[in-house]
Amino acid sequence: MSQKNVRLEVMKLLEKDVDSLIDKYLIPPEKIWQPTDFLPDSESNSFFDEVTEIRELAKELPYDFWVVLVGDMITEEALPSYESWLMDLDGVGQAERNPWAKWVRHWAAEENRHGDVLNKYLYLSGRVNMREIEITTQHLIADGFDIGTDRDPYKNFVYTSFQELATYISHNRVANLAKKQGNNQLSKMCKIISGDEMRHHHAYSEFVERIFAVDPSQMMLAFQYMMKQKITMPAVFLRESGEKIGTAFEEFSNTAQRIGVYTSLDYIEILEKLIKRWEIDKISNLNDEAEKARDYLMKLPERMLRLADRIKLPENSFEFKWVEPAKL
Ligand SMILES: [Fe+2]
Ligand SMILES: [Fe+2]
Repeated sequence: MSQKNVRLEVMKLLEKDVDSLIDKYLIPPEKIWQPTDFLPDSESNSFFDEVTEIRELAKELPYDFWVVLVGDMITEEALPSYESWLMDLDGVGQAERNPWAKWVRHWAAEENRHGDVLNKYLYLSGRVNMREIEITTQHLIADGFDIGTDRDPYKNFVYTSFQELATYISHNRVANLAKKQGNNQLSKMCKIISGDEMRHHHAYSEFVERIFAVDPSQMMLAFQYMMKQKITMPAVFLRESGEKIGTAFEEFSNTAQRIGVYTSLDYIEILEKLIKRWEIDKISNLNDEAEKARDYLMKLPERMLRLADRIKLPENSFEFKWVEPAKL
């Protein structure tokens, strides 16, 4: 049987548990938080006072902070790319409305609130150029997404396990920075988003765990494949208006590193967490190739740590069209 057919069979086998995994890891719309819970109520008489307070508090936060918050928001707003990518995986049947497709739809519905709440907050903050941000968002969705996973559910679930934890870290750090500056409302907003990302991380990690239980060698090789080619960040094609594809991404990620929101050390720590979570050292019934992949993965964090020491970052802020220095 081809590897693809084995994967289809494994996805079919796991399909019967997806409904219970949705109950375990996702929260119905009536019970979960909604963006409005963290924003001024536009039907209320106190709306303008609350907006004034948001604008006052926003003045306390520095340039790089806004760049990172904007970049995080745009990354969330490119959700159509992620949903369509996951819908296309082997074993996910959109037209058949199979349980995996249901997972993707329900997951995307939760994720959609992240861009929504951040977008509304940024609009009210008075600190950013919304039109430039909107152009970048439109570009990013139009430019699409390629994370090198093909349609392989194994590789994709490694990717999503990793990426959900990465977004947990960055939203959580932004929350801490906002809190330090006395901006409790923004802090709570980013904290609650990070909580969603953590739940999603646990869900995708359990999918991988379940695949390890039935197809350990191929799952190990998929994990190795993803780490060898490196986890591409979802906004890697980020650009500003009038610029070439991908030109804004490096400066965005430098900014995030500089203010400690997401660093190369975080990348290594996520890898370590995944190795621990999936008990890579204890997995048995591996073929020779997968045994070698396991050795490679076990040694990888150490190797990456040695390389990370040498990375130097530019010290000065990069000026984005999204955030106007004139307004500082
Ligand atoms: Fe998100
Ligand atoms: Fe997420």
